Amino acid sequence: MEKWVDEAFARACEKFARGAKLAAQQGIIPYKSEGGRYVASPFDGNSWWTGGFWPGIMWQLYKATGNEAYKDEALRTEKMLVDELMTFDLLNHDVGFMYLLSTGAHERITGDKRALSNTLHAATLLAGRFNPAGFIRAWPGEERTGYAIIDCMMNLSLLYWASEKTHDPRFAAIAKIHADTTMREFLREDGSSCHIVIFDPNTGKALDRPGGQGYAPGSSWSRGQAWALYGFTLSGINSGEQRYIDAARRCAKYFIANIREDGLTDCDFRQPKDEERIDNIAGACAACGLLELANVVGGEEGETYRAAAMRLLRALNDLCADWSEEAPGILQKCTASYHDDGAGRHVNILYGDYFFVEALCKLRGTDARLWMARA
Ligand code: GLY
Repeated sequence: MEKWVDEAFARACEKFARGAKLAAQQGIIPYKSEGGRYVASPFDGNSWWTGGFWPGIMWQLYKATGNEAYKDEALRTEKMLVDELMTFDLLNHDVGFMYLLSTGAHERITGDKRALSNTLHAATLLAGRFNPAGFIRAWPGEERTGYAIIDCMMNLSLLYWASEKTHDPRFAAIAKIHADTTMREFLREDGSSCHIVIFDPNTGKALDRPGGQGYAPGSSWSRGQAWALYGFTLSGINSGEQRYIDAARRCAKYFIANIREDGLTDCDFRQPKDEERIDNIAGACAACGLLELANVVGGEEGETYRAAAMRLLRALNDLCADWSEEAPGILQKCTASYHDDGAGRHVNILYGDYFFVEALCKLRGTDARLWMARA
């Protein structure tokens, strides 16, 4: 193991041991950090899609170290997320992100029965968003009945997991229909992907592909590409279907060809060249996907994916990790959307830190495997 990986992991443990105390004092689920403090989600309170990443960091570190302080902090924030299951109105397809990494991690690591039923509850909500015309509906709102987004590839893991737990194939069947639609309607010839497809909710016909969180329609939002890369890899692992691994390979080759010279990731691979806009969340998430894909395909091709993951992670560590005590988060230059939507531009955002920590755990052999249907 390269020495910097162990060093980065030890520093992450220290940072988030301090962070767990700070977040508990502040009484929030951290979304980003600024000025030595954590900041809660910008929209929708604890129903905002990112709520699971903070407990996810805590569970990863608990699994790796056995330090109960991380577990206590994960459980503090889990309560807040479980309350949202009852509120319901603001929840959307991102219950995968929210509950796989909170209640799902709790059940996986401790066998807790209440956490199991809460996670199955979330899976049932996600299955309830399925439109038999062939896709999982992303967001609420009358005008968005036909919207599906690339991010959902990550949420499918919750459905594969639920089929495994209940021995009921319906959840996984929905996941595969959605993944097949995504492969057909979101992936382009060159391996890039679009963020949003608007379907006719009655027929399933694709009507439009707006720009979403990327630069413009037809551009290439890098975090969306990372969701596609990691999401298809996970669908391949969780379903055993080779076609999803092949889709992941196309996404990976395109992502790797577009990594910046310094190893960081532009927010959109087709953004104008005269303005620097980086999204380090994309690089951290893509690295996790590449490490998993490398294991699945093996051989020389696998080595290429692993080397690309190491290049991304090394650049994050060397150029954009703030390891000072004053900073409650790690990765700088995280960008929520190309066109600033108030969720953060070139700042520390905690879900970038989640994927960075997950990648370090993969490299050190302690990954809690929170996206996997089987332990
Ligand atoms: N899932 C929304 C995002 O990646 O910003």
